[in-house]
Amino acid sequence: MSADKRGVHGIWGSRWTFILAATGSAVGLGNIWKFPYITGENGGGAFVLMYLVCILVAGVPVMMAEVLLGRKGRMSPIHTMQAMARENNAPRLFSGIGWMGAVSGFFILSFYSVIAGWTLAYVGKMASGEFAGATGELAQASFGALLGDPWMLLGLHTLFMLMTGFVIARGVKHGLEDSVRLLMPMLFLMLILLLGYSITTPGFVQGWDFLFIFDFSKLTTHSVVVALGHAFFTLSLGMGAIMAYGAYMPSQASLGKTILAVAFLDTLVALVAGLIIFPIVFSHGLEPASGPGLIFQTLPIAFGALPGGTLIGTAFFVLVVIAAWSSAISIAEPAVAWAVENGFSRAKATFGVCFLAWLLGIGSVLSFNDWGDEQFFVTETIATTVTDATTGEETQSSESVFHLYANTTALSEEPLAEGTERSVKGKTFFDLLDFITANVMMPLGGVFIAIFVGWFMSRESVAAEARVKSPLLFNIWRFMVRYVSPAAIFIIFVEGLS
Ligand code: PFF
Ligand code: NA
Repeated sequence: MSADKRGVHGIWGSRWTFILAATGSAVGLGNIWKFPYITGENGGGAFVLMYLVCILVAGVPVMMAEVLLGRKGRMSPIHTMQAMARENNAPRLFSGIGWMGAVSGFFILSFYSVIAGWTLAYVGKMASGEFAGATGELAQASFGALLGDPWMLLGLHTLFMLMTGFVIARGVKHGLEDSVRLLMPMLFLMLILLLGYSITTPGFVQGWDFLFIFDFSKLTTHSVVVALGHAFFTLSLGMGAIMAYGAYMPSQASLGKTILAVAFLDTLVALVAGLIIFPIVFSHGLEPASGPGLIFQTLPIAFGALPGGTLIGTAFFVLVVIAAWSSAISIAEPAVAWAVENGFSRAKATFGVCFLAWLLGIGSVLSFNDWGDEQFFVTETIATTVTDATTGEETQSSESVFHLYANTTALSEEPLAEGTERSVKGKTFFDLLDFITANVMMPLGGVFIAIFVGWFMSRESVAAEARVKSPLLFNIWRFMVRYVSPAAIFIIFVEGLS
């Protein structure tokens, strides 16, 4: 695309506006909803440590590379990557990074909006006083009832997508700046308040230990892939969102501190969210590995116990909605900016992107109810126990069959031979989209971005664009982007997917 497209979308008012917008993108459901539940599913401490390592060795370096590319290209990630690949004589493969990112964006936005819909529902549930003095059972039943109602979920998903489209259509700058400036600090205050509550619960020490005691025997190679994927998801990396925001960053701003600030705030919010959730989990005998429903089954208990909990709980979920909102806007931005560069009005571009993501989101809505049994990548394991007639010794063997797609209930009901047991494990449509985007597409995008900036751009042009003041810091970063980040991502991929 020609250079005349550069700068059509406007520039942020200052470096601070970029920090606010990028933090708005980064801090979202990933921190408050996803981080606690995947930490619960992956056994706690060792997983948290892996996640922190991934943020440092892959997340921060790639984030810097991505913002740098965006600012140099000053166009949508698709056009920026095409221009950058050409200007630097890189293989054409690299110009596809932007495309892959736009596709991931559709996938992510589709399910992100569905989960954000749950948080919308909880604004209403909280305000109605449903959870005053709530027990664990009540909180679980209430959440179950919500998931079991596809029309309700569809309505909420629709509402959230409309809210997202509304801001995007107005332009990221006007739509976003003001809301983020005011609401991010409020979210922080609210988290501190909740932390204050969780410290007083009897499960606080257990919750703390769960998060920060590293028991490596609980770590599987799959958990490491999830930790890496989450580092990308939580920092909005590897798909162009941060690149798109980088394109609106003022030229003179230095990237180093700016990026560290965003990554630090994002990590802080995730850890605080964990410190709020797990003490409540343990205080009420709940299960850390409850999956995507974790925060919806724990937080209402906290609010139910707090004086003024109805009000505080309502306000909290309003803030989570807003955090999700400012993230959703950035997920759509790469595709919308691309369409605008191709001559569509911002309104039409927004409608097209949001409509497609909304349609795909219906699959995720149904994953939690009517289509719950329709699963992909299903592993069926048949375990056989044989008892030796003379010694009475038991030997166990198991055999796994892989199904690309199966109805898990039908599969579980197939007749079995004597002495065998079957377990069936697969991914719903929602699980599949979540897995493919966070654990495959985003890290893959990250590897390509790191390799591109590290190996195809000259040291001089990268240094001129980054404007990192300390030469030491710049050298460390460049070394990471050239060697450490690609190698780390590559190794985790090969290990985890084998
Ligand atoms: N970083 C966001 C979160 O943690 O909720 C999610 C996200 C935003 C992912 C933007 C991807 C993206 F482009
Ligand atoms: Na995040």
